[in-house]
Amino acid sequence: MSYLKEKILKDGVVLDGNVLKVDSFLNHQIDPVVLKEISNEFIEYFKDKEITKVMTIEASGIAPAILVASHLNIPMLFAKKTEPSTLSNEDQFSTNVHSYTKNKTSRVLVSKQYLTPDDKVLIIDDFLANGEAALGLIDLVEQAKAEVVGVGICVEKSFQPGRAKIEDKGVDIFSICRIASLENNKITFVEDEH
Ligand code: G4P
Ligand code: NA
Ligand code: NA
Repeated sequence: MSYLKEKILKDGVVLDGNVLKVDSFLNHQIDPVVLKEISNEFIEYFKDKEITKVMTIEASGIAPAILVASHLNIPMLFAKKTEPSTLSNEDQFSTNVHSYTKNKTSRVLVSKQYLTPDDKVLIIDDFLANGEAALGLIDLVEQAKAEVVGVGICVEKSFQPGRAKIEDKGVDIFSICRIASLENNKITFVEDEH
């Protein structure tokens, strides 16, 4: 069993509303052993792809994304959720990301300077639920006329529609952990169902 799965079973806390709290090793305090294992799995899966940039969205995607980028020796770019005063509208690509969890739509953006048509982008995020964050990142890459090489997810909530939305776009998606259910406070992984 992967170390991430072990940690989820041991230290993950299921909250109301099908939410998995992983604050002790991924979303607040961060366990570098888990992160190294996660990044090694992403590297192994995407090893045959030519990648020029790793991309994520702040805040929780940054930790796994920087490890992958560091391994590949390429830059990591994170989409910002707040507008920097130093970046004018015409110098940015932006898109709207709707969070069903928070019932809120927010604008996320990157500088046009850091996303160009020759980029081959690997998108990394900590969670995939409804897929809105990942779709927003794909949209930013498409606006730059760059290429999405794939999407790598640490924890996929497979009972939510995110994976299907990404597959519909023809994008290769790889998730390290796939959670089939959080019903009755019990964590079931996709491959352990039956
Ligand atoms: P979506 O992007 O897949 O559509 O996700 P959704 O709107 O449902 O979730 C909004 C936020 O909540 C995202 O983080 C997402 O990573 C996170 N999230 C979704 N489900 C879970 C869960 O079960 N457990 C945990 N720990 N997080 C979950 P965010 O608020 O955009 O940003 P940040 O936390 O990275 O700053
Ligand atoms: Na996230
Ligand atoms: Na998060």
